[in-house]
Amino acid sequence: MSESSLIIDCDPGVDDGVALLLAFASPELDILGVTTVAGNVSAALTARNARVIRHIARRPDVPVLAGCQRPLVRPPVEAGHFHGETGLGDLSLDPVADDGECRHAVDFLVSTLMERPAGTIDVVVTGPFTNLAMAMVREPEIIARVRRVVVMGGARREGGNITASAEYNIFADPHAAQIVFGSGAAIVVHGLDATHQVRATEARIAAIEALDGASARACATLLRFSRRIEAEQVRGLDAPLHDPCPIAWLLAPELFETVPCEIQVETASPLTLGHTAVEFRLADPAAATIHWVTAADGQGVFDLITERLAT
Ligand code: RIB
Ligand code: CA
Repeated sequence: MSESSLIIDCDPGVDDGVALLLAFASPELDILGVTTVAGNVSAALTARNARVIRHIARRPDVPVLAGCQRPLVRPPVEAGHFHGETGLGDLSLDPVADDGECRHAVDFLVSTLMERPAGTIDVVVTGPFTNLAMAMVREPEIIARVRRVVVMGGARREGGNITASAEYNIFADPHAAQIVFGSGAAIVVHGLDATHQVRATEARIAAIEALDGASARACATLLRFSRRIEAEQVRGLDAPLHDPCPIAWLLAPELFETVPCEIQVETASPLTLGHTAVEFRLADPAAATIHWVTAADGQGVFDLITERLAT
């Protein structure tokens, strides 16, 4: 079992919701907090949605901390067409009590990474990188203190999913992505090259639908929504499951293959804004701090989700 003490930074978001359900059901993960950010839907809704998923998973022990309301520089761009008006597809949203949490996500990231022993805390990012970038600017010392940054974002071989050349999380805040990728932190990057190998087939969704329990039911509902939207808006392919990949990597790294790289982000061109230039040709690959996920075992990821939600 791979142990991890971590903060999950996200923009729930249908697939962020599945990632949170997987994380909440995995005892190896010591989730210190869930931080949320403006992305798929507004910052208010992503924070509300994280609390809804926490309630479903019965994890009141995990604080949810709302974060940045907009990207660092560019205007906000949402992805409601893929996540529905609420951001959680057609999941019925029982009202969740206000937990009175008022710490800001960026403050929580900085204070947690500064107060805990260096090299012991992972940060997973499954939305725009705004909160983490702000934290790195606010307290650069966290860059050396963070154990691993594991992100969903970018594309190399697969091209873009929000424009021809950009993946949504990077496109939504390219300046934040440039700060994080340029920081020198140890980063594992699950781009579309990886997540497009992890698709919600009918059989994989049916296996989760066969489970009992509120988390399994919510996961199946989220996956069903994704499958329907993908069929309507893309080309009828099975929906890729993006955000659970970083969580699955923490739990079962053997399901993935990585290559050392360097990543630059386009932050100026209107045509290619948010493009990730992923360079494998390095003078010293052993010195690379960023690793790009090139292969993912889609069935293995779904087996892990099914196994965890069955418990
Ligand atoms: O490109 C996929 C990413 O964009 C996922 O994180 C999804 O939630 C959306 O935010
Ligand atoms: Ca997301």
